[in-house]
Amino acid sequence: MEVLIRDNPDVGCLLGAKMFASVIREKPHAVLGLATGRTPLRLYQELIRMHRDEGLDFSRVTTFNLDEYVGLPATHDQSYRYFMRENFFRHINIDQTRTHVPDGTAADLHTECRGYEQKIADAGGIDLQLLGLGRNGHIGFNEPTGSLRSRTWIKILSEQTLKDNSAVFGSIEKMPKHALTMGIGTILDAKRILLLAFGPAKVRAVEHMIEGPLAAICPGSALQQHPRATVILDENSAAGLHYADHYRWIDQHKFDWQRTK
Ligand code: GLP
Repeated sequence: MEVLIRDNPDVGCLLGAKMFASVIREKPHAVLGLATGRTPLRLYQELIRMHRDEGLDFSRVTTFNLDEYVGLPATHDQSYRYFMRENFFRHINIDQTRTHVPDGTAADLHTECRGYEQKIADAGGIDLQLLGLGRNGHIGFNEPTGSLRSRTWIKILSEQTLKDNSAVFGSIEKMPKHALTMGIGTILDAKRILLLAFGPAKVRAVEHMIEGPLAAICPGSALQQHPRATVILDENSAAGLHYADHYRWIDQHKFDWQRTK
């Protein structure tokens, strides 16, 4: 796992956006795995700026989002399909038919999950998967103790996650309690992974993910098994790491070709 500690979320998101841009420039028909939440917003804003000012071309890109709430239609302002359209897709030249978000309103959710896996496979797999990190260590909506080899499936949201995400719904009662999410096995199949985690609320999850044992109680720790996983932190989320000096040392002494860019 490559651990990069930056001064603040802004710098971290700009670096993350550069990673995405270089994948798209090298492979114009890249398949990108995308995430929602507050964390990646700045990264999306930077990609939108690159599209506008530098002509970054999304016309042949395909995207797969990690997850979606069960029961929320695309028109619901808290659905992840809505989030993606408002915060990213409508600002770039992407072909909407190439953007995929699991359908939480499907009549048969199991079939939807299996179909989602098939669509990812048909697209040739994900070149770069973006992730955030839940306060309890979840990735996508894979809550603690979920199988580390899971494929796209239906998950029950933990109380912690409901609390963390309830503000935008008004109350926990108004929130869906279930979601469809790529499984941890699905995520690990991506050729490359970029996880962003910022702020003091993530400090414990970050410590477990990077320095704890590989364990289903912290789904993010599954990234320890991935050959090309990069984690970008800020000083606040990195504050609980025991080996922060080691990560900084490695970062400073890389060959130029090893640097994330
Ligand atoms: C949500 C999403 C995750 C996201 C996480 C963190 O529950 N399902 O994909 O990474 O919570 O959200 P935030 O970035 O808002 O802290």
